[in-house]
Amino acid sequence: MQVKKHIQLLQEIKGNMSSSKSYVFGRAAEGALPKVHKAEGLWIEDDSGKRYLNASGGAAVTNVGHGRREIAEALHQQVLQHDYIHPTAFVSPVVEELAAALARRAPTGIERFYFLSGGGEAVEASIKMARQIHLVKGRPERVRLISRWKSYHGLSLGALSAMGRTAFREPFTPLLGEVVHIPPPYCLRCSYGLTYPGCQLRCALALDETIQNIGPNVVSAFIGETVCGATLGVYAPPPDYWKIIREICDAYHVLLIHDEVMCGLGRTGRWFASEHYDIHPDIVTLGKGLGGGAIALSAVGVQAEHFDALQSAGGFVHGGTYSHHPVAAAVGLATLNILKEENLIERAERVGNVLGAKLKHKLSGTPHVAEVRGLGMFWGVELVEDKDSLRPFTREAQMAERVWHSVFQKGVIVYKAFGLAGSDGDAIIIAPAFTIIEKDIDFLIDSLAQGIAETIE
Ligand SMILES: Cc1ncc(COP(=O)(O)O)c(C=O)c1O
Repeated sequence: MQVKKHIQLLQEIKGNMSSSKSYVFGRAAEGALPKVHKAEGLWIEDDSGKRYLNASGGAAVTNVGHGRREIAEALHQQVLQHDYIHPTAFVSPVVEELAAALARRAPTGIERFYFLSGGGEAVEASIKMARQIHLVKGRPERVRLISRWKSYHGLSLGALSAMGRTAFREPFTPLLGEVVHIPPPYCLRCSYGLTYPGCQLRCALALDETIQNIGPNVVSAFIGETVCGATLGVYAPPPDYWKIIREICDAYHVLLIHDEVMCGLGRTGRWFASEHYDIHPDIVTLGKGLGGGAIALSAVGVQAEHFDALQSAGGFVHGGTYSHHPVAAAVGLATLNILKEENLIERAERVGNVLGAKLKHKLSGTPHVAEVRGLGMFWGVELVEDKDSLRPFTREAQMAERVWHSVFQKGVIVYKAFGLAGSDGDAIIIAPAFTIIEKDIDFLIDSLAQGIAETIE
């Protein structure tokens, strides 16, 4: 009976392969996608031979480009050296080495790294870690989390509770944890109708007011992307924003979590985006580029003082079968080595300035582009229906998706952002590998400009 079923299944699979039915529960609901054949450097080729310039590193992931031999070799060697070992049974030298390499570049005091797989997982762990730090320091009443609207922190329930993209939260609202959201530092559409610097950063001061309202003794942590990414279409807070936030956190013993899953590890032209603001968080999350696009790897970095407190009370109550994976760590280490040896962080700033200047030159004056903003290799182009009033396109118009598709047809891959104004509002994110050359920058910008013009009449 079992054999009969098996043969039937094989026949079905064979039949379906020829009629190209898929058994994958895929991400895209929009129908057939091209089949990828090869990816090298900044270029991806499909099975028809069409080539695409990856101008967004997927989701800001392939920071060192596709198909890096150094990464492949590190992975290969590590599998042969030792692959999976349970992290509560052995210490792996390569995991130690990666943590040390990160600690050398991390914000002051961040000395310990907990390795996981996805960015959302790192965010979940950071929220739990903050709570447990308070517990072991004798502040058991500190349970509440504050985050920001229009943020992106991941899609698992804890991360989604912190996240501020309305369209992604809405279907699951009854399942979400209680997180208080404050307005983001988004000067183009200031929640208070103010203008920087006259506003005196009302959006940062909102943290103080919110802590007071919730109760100064019950707040555990504040989490924010150091430079806003996926939902806001890239937005770097004004220079003094994080200093004010840090001061408020210190005043109330609230822990500061910087989510650098997207903006970390060189994307903004610095190893850590917090370097731009000259402050250090209590906890920092990393992901995406850390695995070089070759493997799922994320990390939570924490101040030594907090780590010591956790350790002396029995350790962080957390885990994960694939945490602290040696093969992932070998890939992470190879990726950091490439960044260092090829001076790619410095290049991200230098060539990123060229990218930003060219984007502004080409797009800023066009009718449906409200703003071109960013830093390093991290740029956003906000699209609006009406430039004077900043009226956004409605979500139903699916403008980010339509522009994305048009640009994709031209052989360039960008990244979509939406939810900049409630569920509405669209932006296109440009986040290429730090190795991008000027010829490709020009192709990318021309294709994007044409895609916008052709999509929005
Ligand atoms: C800032 C930030 N945090 C967390 C995440 C979630 O990462 P992942 O999709 O790997 O779970 C993302 C993903 O885009 C992100 O941009």
